[in-house]
Amino acid sequence: MKLLIPFLRVLFFAIIAFFLFEVIAGTDDQFSFEKYPMVQTIFWGLVILAIFIEVVVGALKTRVFNSLNEKAQERFEAYEDDSYFGKLYTKMLDSKPIEQEEEIVLDHNYDGIKELDNTLPPWWVYLFYASIFFAVFYLAKYEIFDGDSTTVEYEKEVAQAEIDIAEWKKTAKDLIDASSVELLTEASDLEAGKQIFTTNCVVCHKADGGGSIGPNLTDENWILGGGIKNVFTTIIEGGRPGKGMVPWKNDLKPSEIAQVASYVLGFQGTTPAAPKVAEGDVWVEE
Ligand code: HEC
Repeated sequence: MKLLIPFLRVLFFAIIAFFLFEVIAGTDDQFSFEKYPMVQTIFWGLVILAIFIEVVVGALKTRVFNSLNEKAQERFEAYEDDSYFGKLYTKMLDSKPIEQEEEIVLDHNYDGIKELDNTLPPWWVYLFYASIFFAVFYLAKYEIFDGDSTTVEYEKEVAQAEIDIAEWKKTAKDLIDASSVELLTEASDLEAGKQIFTTNCVVCHKADGGGSIGPNLTDENWILGGGIKNVFTTIIEGGRPGKGMVPWKNDLKPSEIAQVASYVLGFQGTTPAAPKVAEGDVWVEE
């Protein structure tokens, strides 16, 4: 009892402080705690201060109490018990003080072990009532009105998350991979692709795509598969080992690879100055 009330006071204070910080500095998706380490520092500082005050005030109270004469001490205790929390505490326990236990002792006596006929503590009984109320509410919501089961809730959340991800991917250009890449047709993308091709690829593929160390990119034959998805993958991962086509994923961003892949596909059907013999199979888009 002596420690419980100060503890509750500190806890109450901490909860209020926490929510105040959230309201002032938090955002929907992030606790102010995570966002500003300073908030955490101040919060714990306040909690420690509150504990410190409780300890000092408690110590002072004990000193004053001990210095009182017996009569004053009794009055002080009566006053404390008379406080709101004091009354609530006694009421919630509803237990007989040791002096009155005589009144509720049962006449069972087993080898000197006796039994007290205590009432159920009201705090426990209230929790029990609360659980009954909860059960009724729960039963009504899920059994009568057919509320979503956890599986359905999960599926709904996943569906929503997928929508959100798709939405987000639209704005995140570099998230394209071989499964989502599409042939770019914007002049600006093709121009950027041409730049990348000129800087990185002409040494082996020639500016007109006719091929030298690398294969001819203008014919419809592909060693590693044609079409935007395969070409994208080839540029990302490189060609077969030892052939000379290195992976470009560390040098170019996915968005740049999509641009250069689209540019490369623009060679299809053109006639280069010195075409290399066709290699690989004719690629037919499915
Ligand atoms: C060092 C020389 C070299 C460079 C630089 C190079 N490539 Fe290649 N490339 C090759 C070789 C060799 C192959 C054949 C790989 C194989 O046979 O597995 C190839 C294959 C390819 C293919 C697949 C062709 C097919 O028939 O399947 C594509 C597409 C391609 N390169 C695009 C590029 C692009 C785009 C760049 C610039 C970012 C580039 N290459 C830079 C040597 C090169």
